[in-house]
Amino acid sequence: NDETGLYGHLTGVPKALLPGIGGKKILDFWWETVNRQLFTEVYLVTNADYKYYERWATANDFPVENVVNDGSTTLRDQLGAVADLELVIRSRKLQDDVVIAGDMLCADQNFDISQVINFFRSKPGELIIYYELEDGERSSSRGIVEVCPETHITRFLEKPEEGRTASRLASVVFYCIRKETLAYMPEYLRLQPGAAERTFGLFWGLSDYTKWLTHYSTKKQDGVAKPISCRSYAVGLMGNPSDGFNGKTIAMTISNFWAEVTLVESQTLVLVAHPLNDPTEFGSLQDLFCISRREYLGGLRLLQATCKKFYQFCSKRIALTKQNFTLKYDTNIPRQVGLAGSAIVSATLKCLMRFYNITAADLPEPIRANFILSVETDELFITAGLQDRVVQVYEGLVYMDFSKQLMDEQGYNYAPMDMSDLPQFWLAYLSDPSDSGRIHSNIRQRWLSRAAIVERNWSRLAQLMDQNFELRRSIYTDDCLGPGNLRMVQLARQFGSAVKLPGSGGAVVGLCLDQAKLMRQAFQEAGCVFCVIAPY
Ligand SMILES: *[C@@H]1O[C@H](CO)[C@@H](O)[C@H](O)[C@H]1NC(C)=O
Ligand SMILES: *[C@@H]1O[C@H](CO)[C@@H](O)[C@H](O)[C@H]1NC(C)=O
Ligand SMILES: *[C@@H]1O[C@H](CO)[C@@H](O)[C@H](O)[C@H]1NC(C)=O
Repeated sequence: NDETGLYGHLTGVPKALLPGIGGKKILDFWWETVNRQLFTEVYLVTNADYKYYERWATANDFPVENVVNDGSTTLRDQLGAVADLELVIRSRKLQDDVVIAGDMLCADQNFDISQVINFFRSKPGELIIYYELEDGERSSSRGIVEVCPETHITRFLEKPEEGRTASRLASVVFYCIRKETLAYMPEYLRLQPGAAERTFGLFWGLSDYTKWLTHYSTKKQDGVAKPISCRSYAVGLMGNPSDGFNGKTIAMTISNFWAEVTLVESQTLVLVAHPLNDPTEFGSLQDLFCISRREYLGGLRLLQATCKKFYQFCSKRIALTKQNFTLKYDTNIPRQVGLAGSAIVSATLKCLMRFYNITAADLPEPIRANFILSVETDELFITAGLQDRVVQVYEGLVYMDFSKQLMDEQGYNYAPMDMSDLPQFWLAYLSDPSDSGRIHSNIRQRWLSRAAIVERNWSRLAQLMDQNFELRRSIYTDDCLGPGNLRMVQLARQFGSAVKLPGSGGAVVGLCLDQAKLMRQAFQEAGCVFCVIAPY
């Protein structure tokens, strides 16, 4: 019905063979997507326009014997897609799960069919793909699905009249069907004699075709992708390291110290080495020795491990698109304050979630914390507990109870706490990290400073912080704590400040009740770095 004459040359061409940009046909995209060693056999069912498809098959290395002609020549005698499917299953005696791909599907080059197949294989039931209609796209032009919140399809409507359904979700004619279900097909066909009921849903109009062409011609010049930047913050306060030992802890994110990860879409997948933390070029062998003596700070392996785990995690639950990206990171967290590892991992995860549109419903907070921990413990064999990861995911001030019974029964027990009117905390760390006593072993301890914070009883909190340190000291001995840590603790106490170790040594955290300014000077004169904590 086109009156412009622009599309006259397309008359008679089957829609799957309509030319796209650069002469590539719709079916070429389809075959490119499907031809990935995912399937042992691929069949193409056509109507009596068979000759066109045969020509295409020869030119595109598609097995010609797998092009099945259903014999229909007009709209009236067409069998319908369900009958076509039944035809190929019956005539070729197919037993396995079957995938049917429609024409529209492959218009998106980021669609990753292997992800969808993995998803299908990992769950029971049938799989169908749908999308949300754009503004102005009428539901009466599409196969519409109604979906319940648990993402089960409740109803399928073929081009419903306006008002028949509130659903704006349209099927794209991609189905994965189990062989047990295929057995119902002849029965369905017996009950649905008309071809109209036998379609799976899609009809292509000229406007769809032109839209598809536009999609491809603009895609190439989309311009520079917008970067996604996410920060995660350092953590400190009470109770650590009892998180690894069924204890209770309270921790808070602080905005002074952060790790930031930036993700930008790119042609290939690239992890960028940090010029300072991932050195690959050195002044001399001696220079390499001095740098390596302090620590291997590199965050590159954290990015890599997070991406690996993310892919693994998603392959069982979420079908990802195929886009590639470039990741880089930066952090200002001194090693003495706490390893930047968990912050880099959690910032990377935030970026990946945003890039792939993964929501909190897909990956709830407690699971996210476990995920971050597993990147470090399973992939990189770093000893760590859940506390920091939980706070980095929730952000703010969080009470955590890792009691064995609760963890076994509920999996987690975390309670965000009110952050208003907190007193001022300070943090100091040794400027020369090689001076810090490193404390590796973990000790079982339990704390109930939650009540002190809830009641805003800061003198009680100060007492508890001091006790926390003394307990640790009595177990570790002064030798193990190291002279640097002890010096900082003594200094704080001279000023009447409560003080404790927030991490594994090298830094102390305290509660400023007064004299903060004098204390800062004293710490600085003792060669330490001092800062007032900014809660985040
Ligand atoms: C991602 O990179 C791979 C390997 O370089 C490439 O084959 C693929 O086409 C890229 N994906 C996209 C969407 O550009
Ligand atoms: C994520 O959602 C945005 C907005 O809805 C969309 O533009 C983008 O293409 C989506 N990205 C992916 C990877 O699905
Ligand atoms: C705060 O805690 C201290 C020490 O436990 C206690 O003596 C005091 O009564 C508490 N103050 C308030 C207002 O509850």
